[in-house]
Amino acid sequence: MPTIDKSGEKRNLPTNNYFWPLKRYLDMYKKSLDDPEGFWGEQAKLLDWDKPWDKVLDWKPPYARWFVGGRLNVSTQCVDRHAKTWRKNKVAIYWEGETGDTRTLSYADLYHEVNRFAFALKKLGVKKGDRIVIYLPMIPELTIAMLACARLGAIHCVVFSGFSAQAIADRVNDSNAKVIITANGGYRRGKILPLKEIVDEAVKLSPGIEKVLVVKYTGHEAAFDAKTDVWLSDLMDGAGIHVEPESMEATDPLFILYTSGTTGKPKGILHGTAGYLLYAAKTLQWAFNPKDDSIWWCTADAGWITGHSYVVYAPLALGLTSVIYEGAPDFPAIDRWWHIIEKYGVTIFYTSPTAIRMFMRNGEDWLAKHDLSSLQVLGSVGEAINPEAWEWYYKFVGAENCPIVDTWWQTETGGFMISPCVGIQSYPLKPGSATLPMPGVDPVVLDADGKENCPNTTGFIAIRKPWPGMLLDVYGNPDIYQKTYWSRFPGFYAPGDYSMKDDDGYWWLLGRADEVIKVSGHRISTAELEHAVVGHTAVAEAAATSKPDEVKGEAIVLFVILRKGQTPSVELKKELVKHLRTAIGTVATPEEVLFVDKLPKTRSGKIMRRVLKAVAAGASIGDVTTLDDQTSVAEALQAYEDLKAAAAKSLHHKE
Ligand code: WTA
Repeated sequence: MPTIDKSGEKRNLPTNNYFWPLKRYLDMYKKSLDDPEGFWGEQAKLLDWDKPWDKVLDWKPPYARWFVGGRLNVSTQCVDRHAKTWRKNKVAIYWEGETGDTRTLSYADLYHEVNRFAFALKKLGVKKGDRIVIYLPMIPELTIAMLACARLGAIHCVVFSGFSAQAIADRVNDSNAKVIITANGGYRRGKILPLKEIVDEAVKLSPGIEKVLVVKYTGHEAAFDAKTDVWLSDLMDGAGIHVEPESMEATDPLFILYTSGTTGKPKGILHGTAGYLLYAAKTLQWAFNPKDDSIWWCTADAGWITGHSYVVYAPLALGLTSVIYEGAPDFPAIDRWWHIIEKYGVTIFYTSPTAIRMFMRNGEDWLAKHDLSSLQVLGSVGEAINPEAWEWYYKFVGAENCPIVDTWWQTETGGFMISPCVGIQSYPLKPGSATLPMPGVDPVVLDADGKENCPNTTGFIAIRKPWPGMLLDVYGNPDIYQKTYWSRFPGFYAPGDYSMKDDDGYWWLLGRADEVIKVSGHRISTAELEHAVVGHTAVAEAAATSKPDEVKGEAIVLFVILRKGQTPSVELKKELVKHLRTAIGTVATPEEVLFVDKLPKTRSGKIMRRVLKAVAAGASIGDVTTLDDQTSVAEALQAYEDLKAAAAKSLHHKE
């Protein structure tokens, strides 16, 4: 298990009302665990209900259903209700494209756009329960399309625009989607992303697709097949102002989002309607304390859960003003983000440790060119933030004046689980710790046998009670749902992370305990990589692992055994890299491909993952006495030495 870097000293939040113990937070937290139904029933007043619920929680492990019998529509909560108040002319979205184009949408504009989009979808025959795949760049239409689906009760399935045609097709086929929404293109680092072309490839692999709805965004021409393709603008002809929202059951599905687990295929995480929306909105309030005059900027792409919850649903449910930026953080120069913060007067800024480390590497001079004094709160997500990056973020971006809200959570949890709660009470922070659980979240640290650990001992984090943002299921696969999350520690939700709670009750999240790699905060599983790479004709067998990376957190390393007759070469390495990018997408780009003759395996044929990891990282193997499967220490050490030698030889193939 990993060790903890607690080198960062304790930091007080830079406000003047903190005290210890944390009375207000603790009172609220206690109430949330003692009487979850009373607590969440009270919180649910944040939403406007078409019909109130009959029961706050129906908990039949492992299925939790929240606000049973209640009805509402998510798009109404995010748009209509604000467009009826003084917020009608409040800015909902300040959008900035990579090329410098801008658009400003008030809540009234957003209302108008969502209805027009819903009108277009209706014309295509989209109705409640249909699955719609969305493959768009970070343009306002992405948010609008998600809300338009929600308006009609259709289940959206957003695919990150860096994923390949094969990855789109896998998701279309698994979710049985009939429609894909895309754009002719997008911009990334000054180049055009040919999204429509990629979708055309995906459609060839997706027999169920009937229509491709295309947003015209870039100027370039894209192929157009009148049988399947339809321009969004053509369908909007005759759109009125209002499309009646579908009044949804609180427990109806809202979206599917695919994420990597320990199997070769990504799982479709299914999220619900009212519980999810309430949880996303409340956690944003508690963690970041936004006000009506806040300018909120979450830099995540809406293709990931952070974008779903904290670019789209939570900020809009709360009637906030958000900034959305389409492009790369370092385009045209490394200060693009600081420029945006200054331009829009961003007050709350939420990003990833990978981005912070990239900026850190480029030095503070870029920051000094901009006035960032509007910033009040800073956030971090995706992986543990190392104390060094935390300190840099705190000192140079926040001018020692902004708390760092380090939020630990997952695609499956819907919203933050462990995070400072600036909106409830200020309390001291510790760089590298996500601090304390959110109200309603009841985590424990268990040892490998499922016994609760004492403080300061690393173990597996497990969650004791359901919370409203908890996934509904794995789409179409309840067995996988049960097995992945509920079988490791019966009765507990198992997130799959190592963790430790210290003497002050602060939580330290210490990385994945399973075969999931986090590259720049993006989840990818070793099984998925291995499955993809053995799909190449030259490859007989492969094993994937990761090594630490200064900026990306982790980088992918592949060990490959070639088929008879194949010769290792630099060209073949390049080809395998290309193959992975085609099979999965750019997130799957390996840092190193090492050709070896054999893989380290236990007597029963399981790959010795620890040996792979140690060799990839150039580290010593450490204590191997605990390697399972009756493999002797001598065998494990020999496997380590053999692989190390083979890897060193393979490195000669580098340019
Ligand atoms: C990791 C992203 C430490 C963790 C929201 C988790 C973190 C996985 C943090 C989920 C954090 C996310 N500190 N680790 N603040 N945030 N993680 O589904 O390993 O893309 O299990 O959701 O990211 O990744 P996912």
